[in-house]
Amino acid sequence: MKNYKELLKENRAWIEETFKKVDKKLSRVAVRSRDKLVDGVGEDGVTHKSINPLAWTSGFFGGMNVLMYEYTKNEDYLLTAKRSEELLDVALANYEALYHDVGFMWHILSGALYRITGDESSKRRNLFAASALMSRYVLSGNFIRAWNDNSSKGWAQRPVKDWSIIDCMMNLPLLYWASDYIGDDRFKQVAMAHADMTLEQHIRPDGSVNHIIEHDRETGECVECIGGQGIAPDSSWSRGQSWAVYGFALSYIHTGEKRYLDAAKRVANYFIANVCDDWIPRIDFRAPSTPVYYDTTSAMCAACGMLELAKALPENEGGMYANAAINMMKAVSERFGDFDPETDVMISHGSVRYPVPGVYDEKQAGVHIPIIYAEYYFVEALLKLLGSDFLAW
Ligand code: GLY
Repeated sequence: MKNYKELLKENRAWIEETFKKVDKKLSRVAVRSRDKLVDGVGEDGVTHKSINPLAWTSGFFGGMNVLMYEYTKNEDYLLTAKRSEELLDVALANYEALYHDVGFMWHILSGALYRITGDESSKRRNLFAASALMSRYVLSGNFIRAWNDNSSKGWAQRPVKDWSIIDCMMNLPLLYWASDYIGDDRFKQVAMAHADMTLEQHIRPDGSVNHIIEHDRETGECVECIGGQGIAPDSSWSRGQSWAVYGFALSYIHTGEKRYLDAAKRVANYFIANVCDDWIPRIDFRAPSTPVYYDTTSAMCAACGMLELAKALPENEGGMYANAAINMMKAVSERFGDFDPETDVMISHGSVRYPVPGVYDEKQAGVHIPIIYAEYYFVEALLKLLGSDFLAW
């Protein structure tokens, strides 16, 4: 197996050519979509769709512009990122409606902007988001509670209770940052307690992951593993797997604890063993072989985690993760990439969840649609390949 450096050399031309196309397109999109928070595409099939600021994906477009600004120093990207922050303030002011995803919403936008520009208002937004996340910690059970709602039906078609979800691993860097920033490890303690619970309860012995766990509030023990966005409770939702790959890699980077590195390797090994020959993950690794439902978001988030693993591991161990990441990036961009500067969307064939007959049809489940964070993670992974050391998380 070639090591990471050899793979970078071998793929240099592809990396540089792809970045040129991305920059050409995104510098135009930054101007066109500046005044909206976006995800997906509108009715015309060309223009970005506006989304509710409280949607968990509302920070990705601004966050992608932060990444592009950091690398290119093109002010158009900065203006768009700053406009996204302002548009998101409506959500920040709505404390009761906030939930565990405040890291996705602010840390890659305001947290990253603060680290690049030193803007005090960005720092305040991010500290507020960190406090909101910390306030969700259930002390008796050692977990950060996911959503709020006790009455309406969530992903699992049942009332939300004391649930933790694998996705939340990606929100923990917000807490690590807050501890570093204020010089007090109380935020980090909560992040590590949640990461340890996730390691124990969400990661299965074979390296696959449980999406949702309902906890006993007093003991924290698992009462039930609940099916979320995969096909069944004991199946293997591929984006959940990618949240675990990158999430544990990030917890390792921020704490230096080897148990998180080992966990990241275990879930990444499972991912690589299960991704199909075409290097595009299906929505669920344990779904029937047909119909074929792809999820490009899962591929791109896992690619970022695998590139961080390749950097963290000894030279002769990291190659297999870098190889998988590059193969997924090439496969997704070649099959589902649109680099035309006149259209807003860059990557299609993301999927929100697996369709469940009689509950969600393909349209309701959001199968094969453009999803903004496939693009965010694609850009992040490409910048890593170009040698950028800026870590937004
Ligand atoms: N965090 C929600 C999702 O991955 O769809």
